[in-house]
Amino acid sequence: MSESNNTAATAPYIEFVHVSKAFDDQPVLVDVSFEVRRGEMVVVLGRSGVGKSVTLKHILGFLQPDEGQVFVAGKEVSRMTERELVDIRRRVTMVFQSGALFDSLTVGENVAYPLRERATRDLGLDEDAIQSRVDELLARVELSEMKESLPADLSTGMKRAVAIARALAAEPEAILYDEPTTMVDPLMAQTIGDLILKLKRETGLTSLVVTHDMRLARKLADRIVFLEDSRVAFYGPVSELDSSQEPIVRDFVQLDEVSFLKRS
Ligand SMILES: Nc1ncnc2c1ncn2[C@@H]1O[C@H](COP(=O)(O)OP(=O)(O)OP(=O)(O)O)[C@@H](O)[C@H]1O
Ligand SMILES: [Mg+2]
Repeated sequence: MSESNNTAATAPYIEFVHVSKAFDDQPVLVDVSFEVRRGEMVVVLGRSGVGKSVTLKHILGFLQPDEGQVFVAGKEVSRMTERELVDIRRRVTMVFQSGALFDSLTVGENVAYPLRERATRDLGLDEDAIQSRVDELLARVELSEMKESLPADLSTGMKRAVAIARALAAEPEAILYDEPTTMVDPLMAQTIGDLILKLKRETGLTSLVVTHDMRLARKLADRIVFLEDSRVAFYGPVSELDSSQEPIVRDFVQLDEVSFLKRS
């Protein structure tokens, strides 16, 4: 690979620079800095309520920092115009904690939704092309046989997979996953983790995963941002996590070992 290609491959796509955010004088993020390079998978790990979803909302411009800056695709989010924000929300798609599928639409129509939106906007795909793209995406998440089903007939894990297929349909540059494995059993959590990893390998998409699931973090992360008490307690490659001296990181690592021993 040439040097210039290398630089492009490692340039940050998402960047938090000394970001602080409080709600009613209650600090949620304090001096948070990290970056997600193009093609990289970063996991934001931390306890419930620590500010993980708040972090994601800053990336899409739904929240603005009180101090510091958030950059996406080279531009500061709080300086973007409404039109630029709409564009960024197409280029960076979010798989919501709840899945947020349209209940009255079939699985196939849920996945087709972003494609139809785009077809209207840029006169893009015709109906045949939309259907074959939907088939391709459902095959990718291993749900081809569910195309005509309604979300109500799916398990939580399957709904997550459909939500992932729908997020991919928009052909984003980056994908954000908010707690992809909460509320599902450990086996389904493993399946979803495998799926996210497979998609990352196949598509090379820049990915940010928010979770409190240490096993998922280990499975997926190139690098981990560990949030605790509003601050970054650890930021680095997974291989360095086990040698971190931060008490909360040690607790997470040890708890994970205990639950692993119980399970095996
Ligand atoms: N719009 C808002 N207004 C006021 N407080 C908020 C707002 N959004 C989030 N908070 C507060 O910020 C803190 C962090 O919330 P956040 O949803 O980011 O947590 P989280 O890490 O995603 O937790 P969980 O794992 O439970 O999803 C919480 O105390 C929450 O009550
Ligand atoms: Mg959350």
